[in-house]
Amino acid sequence: MKLKIVVTFGTRPEAIKMMPVYTELKKYPEYFDVSLIVTGQHREMLDQILEIYGVVPDVDFNIMKSEQTLTEITNALEIKYGEYFEKEKPDLVLVHGDTTTALVAAFEAFYNKIKIGHVEAGLRTHNRLNPFPEEINRQLIARFASFHFAPTTQAAENLKKENVQGRIFVTGNTAIDALFINLEQQYDDELLQKVEDDKMIVLTTHRRENLGEAMRNIFLAMKEISKTWPEYSVVYPVHMNPQIRKLATEMLSKEKNIFLIPPVGVVGFHHYLNKAKIILTDSGGIQEEAPSLGKPVLVLRETTERPEGVENGNLRIVGTDKDRIINEVQKLLNDSSYYKSFTDIANPYGDGTAAKRIVDVIKKNLNYFTIHN
Ligand code: UD1
Ligand code: UDP
Repeated sequence: MKLKIVVTFGTRPEAIKMMPVYTELKKYPEYFDVSLIVTGQHREMLDQILEIYGVVPDVDFNIMKSEQTLTEITNALEIKYGEYFEKEKPDLVLVHGDTTTALVAAFEAFYNKIKIGHVEAGLRTHNRLNPFPEEINRQLIARFASFHFAPTTQAAENLKKENVQGRIFVTGNTAIDALFINLEQQYDDELLQKVEDDKMIVLTTHRRENLGEAMRNIFLAMKEISKTWPEYSVVYPVHMNPQIRKLATEMLSKEKNIFLIPPVGVVGFHHYLNKAKIILTDSGGIQEEAPSLGKPVLVLRETTERPEGVENGNLRIVGTDKDRIINEVQKLLNDSSYYKSFTDIANPYGDGTAAKRIVDVIKKNLNYFTIHN
């Protein structure tokens, strides 16, 4: 009997990190009957990834609304997932990370007594408001899941300390699978060609807890940085959130050496990261990718659930204070030994084979998934 598996996601980072798992599962039609459900929590940013992989989902809930609230996303998805799972009764649902899509999928799978595999399990800040709501989303998914695919041993330890039920496997992060594959592909565009080698600063910011005053401070810092070091280009692919686009346009669009661009397809974006001198970000995924490239990352947040990169020296938590951000950039640009202390190439998040490990675990446990307990 084939195992009926649903792979599900709704946002850009989940898509980037679940496509390697989906692609790997699809190699074994003799074992698995795989369906892809996307929620459309993100629209353009999700479609960008699906297009790159040439994948058409089996089901698309298409729920995104402009400036949607967490309540709206949750309400829309509970009904859609609930009805789908009740009708289709898959043996296993694979969710990713900490988004509202992942939480509701896990919740509704549990209500239908369907087993859950949690990809990128066990990351913790232990601060319920940072990242918000992701920290608690991820903790709750661990309560529902039977299989926890932890990217690192620290993440697995977190789960053990919480006495979660189910089995824990250390697999590496599938972000690194995607990064390695993408960097092998040729990529170029006009802006990437135009920015000088060693003269690009990449910025991304989108976290809910940074919306408002914190993001204003980040943008003030970037403005000053662009004026102080005019020989550098700041490249900022702006998240599709209208609140962010409005503020970024208001505050940064007049600066000659700040390039506000639409979200870059992931193959291209990995090439941008690879050419960057410094990366400033509040993104989770970028904190995982940068250590594999040996790039200094200033993390625009107060906490991180990715401590391995900090311990390795690639990441530094700088928060959102304007002067602190400027001082850190100044140190990196003016002090080459300080800069070098960030540039060890390390792979604390995996070796590019995480998807294969996850699928191997599922193959070895085929019987377990069909027993409902
Ligand atoms: C979500 C995740 C966050 C993840 C981020 C990745 C939750 C609670 N948060 O946050 O963990 O880091 O995605 O980017 O699930 N929008 C568009 N087009 C798009 C995508 C977004 O217009 O393709 C706009 C919509 O107006 C939407 C807003 O962006 O209301 C925010 O999107 P949403 O998914 O609600 O939250 P994110 O901040 O993106
Ligand atoms: N990314 C991308 N294009 C961009 C910016 C980011 O493909 O213009 C990728 C990035 O390499 C990483 C992922 O998107 O793999 C991170 O997504 P995001 O920052 O939106 O979410 P988070 O990781 O914080 O949940």
